[in-house]
Amino acid sequence: MIKAEKINVRFGNNHIIRDISLEIKPVKNLVILGKNGSGKSVLLKCLSGLYEFYDGMIEIDGIRADNNLYYRIKNTVVSYVFQKGGLFDSFNVFDNIAFGLRRKNLPESEIEKMVTDALSSVGLSGNENKFPSELSGGMQKRVGLARAICMNPKVIMYDDPAAGLDPVLTDQIADLMMNIQKNLNITSVIVTHDLKLAHKIADDIMLIYGGKAVFYGSNDDFFAMQNEYAKQFITGDIEGPIDIY
Ligand SMILES: Nc1ncnc2c1ncn2[C@@H]1O[C@H](COP(=O)(O)OP(=O)(O)O)[C@@H](O)[C@H]1O
Ligand SMILES: [Mg+2]
Repeated sequence: MIKAEKINVRFGNNHIIRDISLEIKPVKNLVILGKNGSGKSVLLKCLSGLYEFYDGMIEIDGIRADNNLYYRIKNTVVSYVFQKGGLFDSFNVFDNIAFGLRRKNLPESEIEKMVTDALSSVGLSGNENKFPSELSGGMQKRVGLARAICMNPKVIMYDDPAAGLDPVLTDQIADLMMNIQKNLNITSVIVTHDLKLAHKIADDIMLIYGGKAVFYGSNDDFFAMQNEYAKQFITGDIEGPIDIY
């Protein structure tokens, strides 16, 4: 479903992503881990077509993302869930979720049904008229998720779905993500620094350090800690290949 070969991203002289390759099968997910500033969000934005890469190849659902095809991929296949929900403050919940659908010029009655269904799949039925400021952080994230799934994507990319959530809410969002993946047959890429979330939901895990993938393999292999980077990331040891300063 998603294939990337030797992706490189630079901002000026800043070489952020170096030769990262990956492959995700349909309805599987990849969790991308790494410390702050390691390039997780940049890689995710690149995979979803929000940022350009200067070298490499990305293919999603059989479409190669060569510059002018970004737009097509983005709008037909991939939904992106922003770190804090990315809601419009001045729109209520209904209008936030309907935003992308309205750009498709669908009849309002159809939009209403899709919004209602999406809200129900994230457990927020009846909150259509509330504004983001009236919702908790966890609820805002779920509205962001409803907005993503109502576009009927084949792929969802999540930027740090657990950021700012307590362990109980993190567990809830993890369950929700797993249900969505199974019930809607969605392939996903999830960026996080939350090891518990990763362990719970990941099929495969990639650990990024210094712009490179220093571990890429199964969930079990990551937590088996045979890889020195994985081991240090999990245990939080000062000693190891990761420079913590
Ligand atoms: N649009 C941008 N322009 C220039 N530098 C950027 C941009 N976006 C991210 N960066 C830089 O890329 C690096 C990785 O950032 P990011 O991917 O956000 O890290 P994280 O792993 O915490 O998500 C940081 O040094 C950041 O400053
Ligand atoms: Mg980030």
